[in-house]
Amino acid sequence: MKASASAPGKVILVGEHFVVEGSPAIAVAVDVRARATAEAAEGDLVTISSRELGEASFGPGAGGGPLYPVYVAVQEIFKRAGRRAGLRLTIESDIPPGAGMGSSAAVAAAAAAATARLLGLPLSPDEIAQAALAAETIVHGKPSGIDPAVTSYGGAIYFKRGAKPERISADFGRVRLVLADSGIQRSTGALVARVLETKRRHPEVLEPLYKAAANLAEKARSALEKGDFATVGELMNINHGMLSALGVSNAKLEELVYAAREAGALGAKITGAGGGGMIVALCWSEDAERVARALSGIAARTIIAPVSEKGATSALEG
Ligand code: PMV
Repeated sequence: MKASASAPGKVILVGEHFVVEGSPAIAVAVDVRARATAEAAEGDLVTISSRELGEASFGPGAGGGPLYPVYVAVQEIFKRAGRRAGLRLTIESDIPPGAGMGSSAAVAAAAAAATARLLGLPLSPDEIAQAALAAETIVHGKPSGIDPAVTSYGGAIYFKRGAKPERISADFGRVRLVLADSGIQRSTGALVARVLETKRRHPEVLEPLYKAAANLAEKARSALEKGDFATVGELMNINHGMLSALGVSNAKLEELVYAAREAGALGAKITGAGGGGMIVALCWSEDAERVARALSGIAARTIIAPVSEKGATSALEG
């Protein structure tokens, strides 16, 4: 018997970095997915293989390497099930890694969901998110938990650290998200640490900005619920300026953001940790191709991403 699962990538619409210190953020799942297949194997080793990351086997003791976080998510499922099992797990992902689209959380969520399905353990989105969060903690030191929440739930999520994620009821039918990759690799953990260090040095300057970011996320939520995408776009532009103030923008990201706005996007900003990775532009559906074309000459890649209502899902195969 085999179980397969998939989980979507994500785009943060507003609130990244600020979310690490307790402000709310809003993210949406997008229809670019990671997949995992789990099969029972002899013994108690978990063998994980990926086209990009190779293959590694993990036993009950400690481990390391690029596939170790995936094993940590699987271990969370073993803990919930009250037993270990020998497994062969294959993972693959269409989500560009290291670009701010939550690829590591989606891979971990898909692996956790496939393992739970194989073991016959029904899991809520919250439980899948917790398993993926354990993996994220290995990937980068102080994750807010937003990536695991969005990939597990799907749709649009209002996320506040320590609180249960809330699904926002919003109709994205008239808009598209255009993503443009700067092609610059960066480490989320290092950028989060740098921002926290800047905040520690200038609390009297930056604490009001964190309050403003919290107000911005609340306004963006109510604009999304009303379908007022012009206001959402305007708030995204403001949010981009705040991220620049935190020091996570650079000349390439600014070039992409301004090109998207000039091509007619409702709003454009860094998405994710910044320092490289991607920008997101919110566009009316009919403008998305034009905005993507304007970006394609200066970006390493562009993606027009529909919002995915479907979070992590799993099924048994024959
Ligand atoms: O990994 P990324 O680029 O999607 O960034 C995650 C968003 C941060 O707010 C910067 C970090 C976090 O854990 O929320």
